[in-house]
Formats: sequence, structure tokens, C-alpha cells
Amino acid sequence: MTPSDRGKVVLGVTGCIGAYKAPDLVRELRRRGFRVQVILTRAAREFVSPLALATVSGEPVLERLFDDGSGRGDDDAAGGVRHISLTDETDVFLVAPATAHAIARLALGLADDFLTTFHLAQRAPLLIAPAMNTNMLRHPATRANLETLAARGAEVIAPGVGELACGWLGPGRLPDIGVLADAAEAALRRGRAQSDLEGRRVLVAAGPTREPIDPVRYLSNHSSGRMGAALAAVARDRGAAVTLVLGPGSVPPPGGVRVIPVGTAREMRDAVVRRAPGADALVMAAAVADFRPERAAGEKLKTGSFRGAPGGAAAGASVLRLVGNPDILAELGGRRAAEPGWGPVVLAGFAAETTDPAPEAIRKLERKRCDLIVGNRVGPGRVFGEDRTEAVLVERAGADGSAPTVTPRPPETKRDLADAILDVVARRLAAAPDPGGNAS
Ligand code: C5P
Repeated sequence: MTPSDRGKVVLGVTGCIGAYKAPDLVRELRRRGFRVQVILTRAAREFVSPLALATVSGEPVLERLFDDGSGRGDDDAAGGVRHISLTDETDVFLVAPATAHAIARLALGLADDFLTTFHLAQRAPLLIAPAMNTNMLRHPATRANLETLAARGAEVIAPGVGELACGWLGPGRLPDIGVLADAAEAALRRGRAQSDLEGRRVLVAAGPTREPIDPVRYLSNHSSGRMGAALAAVARDRGAAVTLVLGPGSVPPPGGVRVIPVGTAREMRDAVVRRAPGADALVMAAAVADFRPERAAGEKLKTGSFRGAPGGAAAGASVLRLVGNPDILAELGGRRAAEPGWGPVVLAGFAAETTDPAPEAIRKLERKRCDLIVGNRVGPGRVFGEDRTEAVLVERAGADGSAPTVTPRPPETKRDLADAILDVVARRLAAAPDPGGNAS
């Protein structure tokens, strides 16, 4: 195996049947050029041999805080305490497989063995790969513990679906080794890039808008706000001061960002336009309703009041008159073009299409005068509300009028797509002249 220095993965292995795959995971991580330090819990030892893990990782396995009569505890390190000194070497902390019990101990912040004590001391990105029986995974206690860890910034790797060791069929399998290694690699890349938005102000608009028909009913769309929430979280992790203008979706906003809740497209427009001049980058990830009812009734409309409304409705049909909403992105793009120096340096938007999104994304880049359009394919069970997506990035080329760059992305999580979008944002910000006229 080639020694290499792409970074160090600390792999926490906890006690369930999936632990038998841990030596293969170590080998795969090392094949990709990572150094690996394994931490084993007492229960994991029942499923996988410490000697096998020490052999494939090339490092003694860490198990015990204290000497349990076997000679010495693993916490004794030359010149220090190993559960602390290891934190300085760690680029990614991956717990795979993570049992319900281990997840509960991490969520509670217990520190009763090497794994949990190290967890509290370390600061690297934390990835959790739950593996257990379907009912244990679905139990409200496990779900709440996973949500607690996710809210603190941990990435929970979705368990695989299939036949479990207990004979059940359903979610709970340890994902394939390749999926786990990909997740560690992506987290490592994110960790490395972490501060490239330091000092930048990033404004994100996300979620749907709701256009009232009357005090009870509204027009809206299926947007959950998940893409915008991922953008806000990743921009925050990369050092930006983030403001999230958020329509009424179903995904809670991430912590550590300023949230401005809005309801209608016009409220979103006012919130975004007010903050745009102070932002370095604006990403319009919102699914703004293009139309609104011409008039929102003050009282709940009776069913009969739609019938025979002006506009030539056929007998029995109902008519709701709609007017167009302001196009926020186009307004900002137009203003920035008319007043050089005004507004965000980077202006990005989305094109959600039910057909091939690339041609429409290219047209929108021109029409809305922005720097980047992220095209994606939407439809029933696709993208909206899902954690995964497949997009194409269409980026404005230089000022010389050359054709935009079109970069198709592989199927990926919204978090990974957010990273790719913010790579473009960070690169364009770094290349932009600073107010003093020098490229920063
Ligand atoms: O024209 P279309 O709605 O497909 O454009 C999508 C992009 O424009 C998205 O970035 C969306 O947030 C933005 N948009 C907007 N105001 C609207 C409609 C869309 O800013 N009224």
C-alpha cells in the first residue's frame, strides 16, 4: 500500500454485525491515500479482531482509556494524553458502523470510553453511518439522537436498504464501503476548503413562496427549502456570514445563520433587495411563485364565489385571476448591469425544469444577467424535498462575450452540490477586483 498524505481518517468502529466490514473499509481508505487510525468500542471487539484492524491500518487500535490489567491503557502517549493529541492529527472522524447505543452516547456527550472521550475533544467533521435493525433505526429515541447530532453539524450517512443480518428487510444496512469512503473524502475536501469564504457575506433565498387566495387558501409549489438550507450551512462552514431569506418550506434552517422568514414573493423581493447591496454573493435558490391571485380576499371565499367569474369561464368552471410576481433575480441582475459596482459581486440562480435543464439554464443566465445558473430536473419524486439531486452548472465566461461554461454534475447530495456551487462563488469572489482596484 502506498504511504500517502491525503489526510488522516479516525474510524470509530462500534459493536454490531456491520463491524466485520471495517477491515475492508480501512483498506479502501488507505488505497485512496488516507492514513487511518481505528478506535474500537468494547462491543465491537466481539465482531472484529483488533489485530486485523491494526494490521490493515498499520496503527495500533485504540480501545481503552485506562489500564484494565492488560499492561497499559491506550490513552498513554509519549508526552501527552492520546485522546487529546489525536485531535490535532484528525482530518475526518467517521463512525462506521454506528450502533443505536453509540449514537445515543455521542448525542448525550458521554465520555466513558476512548471513542466518546475523543468525540468530545475533537473538532474535525464528524460522519455517522448508522447500522441497525429497521425498527431500532426508526425508534423515536434513535431518530432524535441522530437529529441532535445533525443539528450540531454531523453528517449522517443514509443507511442502505436491503436484507439485514437479523433477517429483516428494510433500511439499516451499513452502506457499501465505496459510499463510506466517498463521504469521508468529500468531508475532507470540505474541511480543507473551510475558510475560503471567511469575511464574505453570503445572502441565500430559499424555499417556496405562498400567494394568498383568501385567509385560508394559497398558491404555492413543492419546494422544501432543502437546497437553500444546504447552501447556507456549507457557506457558514466555509467561514461566510450568512443571511437566509426563507419561505415557508418544510426544512428547518441551519444554526449559525441569520434567518429572515418571508411568506409571499413580494415579501421575499423586499427582504432580498434590501440586503443585496451589502452582500458579496447572492444565491437565489428559492422557488418563487411566478403568479399570485390578483386580489387576496379579506374573508374566506365561498366555493360558489369562484363560479362564473369574469374571464369567460365555462359553465361550472372556476376562475382565479392571476397576475405576475416580480422576478427578483432579473431585477437585481438588471440593476447591477445598469449601475456597475452596485450589488453582489456574484449573482447565482436556479433553473428547475421538467425537461433537459441545460438550454433553459443558458437562456436564464442571459435573461437574468447573472453569473451562474444551476439547472436541475424536477418532477414527481424528483429533487423537490429529496436529499439527492443531479444538476448542471452554467457559468458566465469572461466579459468578452464568449459562450458560458456548462459543467454537468454527477448525481449527488444537495450538500455536495452546495459545495460545488460555493466553489464557483469563492473562485469568482477571489478573482474580483477589490474596491481599491486590486485583485484580492
Ligand atoms: O424563471 P424561473 O422562475 O425559472 O427562474 C428561476 C430563478 O429565478 C431562480 O433562481 C429563482 O429563485 C429566481 N426567481 C426570482 N423571482 C421570480 C421567479 C424566479 O428571483 N419571480
